[in-house]
This record gives sequence, structure tokens and C-alpha cells, in this order.
Amino acid sequence: MKRLKIALIPGDGIGKEVLQEGVKVLKTIDKIDNNLFFEFEEFPWGCDYYVKNGKMMDDNGLEQLKDFDAIYLGAVGHPSVPDHVSLWDLLLKIRKGFDQYVNLREITLLNQSLTPLKDKSEEDIDFLVIRENSEGEYAGVGEWMNKGTPEEVVLQTSVFSRKGTERIIRYAFEEARRQKKSLTSISKGNALNYSMVFWDQVFNEISQEYPDVKTYSYLVDAASMYFIKEPERFEIVVTTNLFGDILTDLGAAITGGLGLAAGANINPERQFPPMFEPIHGSAPDIAGKGIANPLAAIWSVAQMMEYFHEGNWKDYIIESIRVLLKEGRYLTRDLGGKSLTTETGDRLIEILTQMVTENKSK
Ligand code: NAD
Ligand code: IPM
Ligand code: MN
Repeated sequence: MKRLKIALIPGDGIGKEVLQEGVKVLKTIDKIDNNLFFEFEEFPWGCDYYVKNGKMMDDNGLEQLKDFDAIYLGAVGHPSVPDHVSLWDLLLKIRKGFDQYVNLREITLLNQSLTPLKDKSEEDIDFLVIRENSEGEYAGVGEWMNKGTPEEVVLQTSVFSRKGTERIIRYAFEEARRQKKSLTSISKGNALNYSMVFWDQVFNEISQEYPDVKTYSYLVDAASMYFIKEPERFEIVVTTNLFGDILTDLGAAITGGLGLAAGANINPERQFPPMFEPIHGSAPDIAGKGIANPLAAIWSVAQMMEYFHEGNWKDYIIESIRVLLKEGRYLTRDLGGKSLTTETGDRLIEILTQMVTENKSK
């Protein structure tokens, strides 16, 4: 029996609402699967915690998390705390502290009716973005000089180390080889004449080790256009931290919106726990109304199952989401329905339970 310890960080706004639904899915898996047993511990960290305690998480927060098998996070951010403080002291602190340098974001259209792209189908929009998740534009290096004077100058420095660049690109090549898919690098070497020239060079060097992997390289501006016009070009994408952030919101938009987009933050060497989360934020505009779409959070449970080598559960969850979308009766407002977060979550669990039970009795 696998006993898995999951740290829950609901965080802020709709993070709390959607995480609850994901936990219901985990509890369903626990109930059905005799080999899996989940233990949960919840951490009250986030902006409320900051307002009360002056910090986003405990000083030894990473120490408290380090022995968990996975971290499951809702969302972080509230108007009461500046975003750069709340995100750097919680979400980014975990990604960096646990060296989760791989961010896996699946861009998969599960139902044609959800894409705003004319004439594009499920076959056309089905790819994986592998985002560098530890350095680059998110190095946190910079300087604010002559503040408040006419001579004010602000620097935000990107850091691309050889180790950091090689490891993400190598990870992407390994994944492309394993899946027998093409690999597309997205960068911007024409304007970013240090960092992206270096990125492109490393991509070319490593590609020599993988003659079996077909490669493409696009500038990020053109790639943004192809995401919309010809998403079928992409199978596996590797890109930098910031480009990956932006492109995956675009990817979410062509597959049904942020309410369906999930991300896994992984340290592939498994020296530290991974973190699973929807890629959306705390959505202050709809928080507290019970109308947030829980499917992104639930999709991240599927990614968690894959990480735990429980691929069947991943498939069951994704197929259940597909059925729920097709059925169309329990959709939240962002998808044109009227359901509450909890109603969508409950229906998903019904579908999942039925699907697994039917499969077992075969
Ligand atoms: P957001 O993702 O919170 O919301 C953008 C839009 O998408 C809003 O209109 C929102 O209502 C909608 N939306 C997002 N998730 C949804 C869901 N599950 N169901 C239905 N609608 C959904 O982005 P934002 O408004 O730019 O940021 C709000 C706060 O969240 C900020 O503090 C930001 O820094 C933070 N943020 C956190 C994370 C994270 O924790 N991973 C990610 C992005 C933004
Ligand atoms: C995401 C988010 C974060 C990021 C923010 C909240 C720091 O937008 O996970 O996509 O930029 O990585
Ligand atoms: Mn983002």
C-alpha cells in the first residue's frame, strides 16, 4: 500500500474553493483504490495569514513541507498584500526552495465547443509546454536606483545559467524522445542578445545528442501567433520562465480558459516534493461566490497521480472531465453554465466513480 502525505495550501480567494473540490477527488481515489492512502495536512498560509502574522508562511515553512510527498496549492494573492510580496514569499519561495525547475503545463482541448478557434479540433490542440521554473526572468535579481528622482533607473536582470538552461532543455528532449514527439524551443534571440542567444545555443548543442527528436525553434512573437493560427504545429514545447507563463495563459484560452488549466512543478531528481496547482490566480473578482471552476484544480490532481506513477488515475480523471464537459449540464459560469463550484466537483466525482466501477467489473 502506498501512503502518500499531501500538504494542502489553499491560499487565497478561489484557491480555497477549488482546492476543496480537488481534495474531494483525492478522497474518492483513496476510497476506491485499496493501494492508495492519502494523509492530508493543511497549512493556513496566504494573505490572511500575512495580515495577522506579518508573513506569508512560517519562517521554517519549507522545513515543514520538505517531507511531504506532494504539495497541493490553490492560489495566492489578495489586494490586501502587494502581489510581489505575496507571490515571492509563498508560491515562488516553494518553487525555488524545492528547486522545482520543471513546470509542466498541458494544453489539451477536451471538447471542441470550448475553443474560440474556428475550425480547430481536439486533435489540433494537444501539446505540452515545459516551462523553465527556477531562474531566467524570475531570478529576482535587480536594482532600484535613485528612487523617486528624475534619474530613477530600475533593473530587472534575467539569469540563465549553463546548468539551469541545460537541465530544462535536456529534460524536454528526454520527454520528447520518450513520447516520440517533436520538440519546439520558444525564445527571442533577435532582441535579447545575451540570454536568448545563449538559450538557442544550448538548445542546438543538446539537440546533437538527440538526433531522433525532430526540433523546431520559434521566436516568441511568432510562436504566439502560431498558438492561435496553427496550434497543431506543437507537440512538446520548451521555453523560458516568463515566456512559459504568458504562453500558457494563451494556451488556456484556446482550450477553455483558466478554469481548466493545470500545472505541475517538479524537481525531476525527486530531491524535494513537487507542487501541483491550477495555473490561475485567486480571482478576487469572483472569490467568495462559490462559482469558480474547480476543473483546473482537479486536473492538477491528475498530474499528481501521474507523478506518483498512477497513470490510470490520471486517465480516469481526464476522461471524467471530458465526459462532464460533453454532458454540459454541470458547468460553471466561465464555461457558460450555471453550476456552483461544489456542484461541478460533485458531478465530476459521480462520473469518476461510475467510470472506475464499470471498468473494474469488466
Ligand atoms: P486570475 O487567474 O486570478 O484571474 C483572471 C481571470 O480569470 C478573472 O476574470 C477570473 O475570474 C478568471 N478565472 C481564473 N480562474 C478561474 C476559475 N477557476 N474559474 C472561473 N474563472 C476563473 O488572474 P489575475 O486576476 O490576474 O490575478 C489575481 C491574483 O492572483 C493576483 O494577486 C495575482 O498575482 C494572483 N495570481 C496567483 C497565481 C497563483 O497562485 N498560482 C496565478 C496567477 C495570478
Ligand atoms: C503562474 C503565475 C505565477 C507565475 C505568478 C503568480 C508569480 O502567474 O503560476 O502562472 O508567474 O509563475
Ligand atoms: Mn501565470
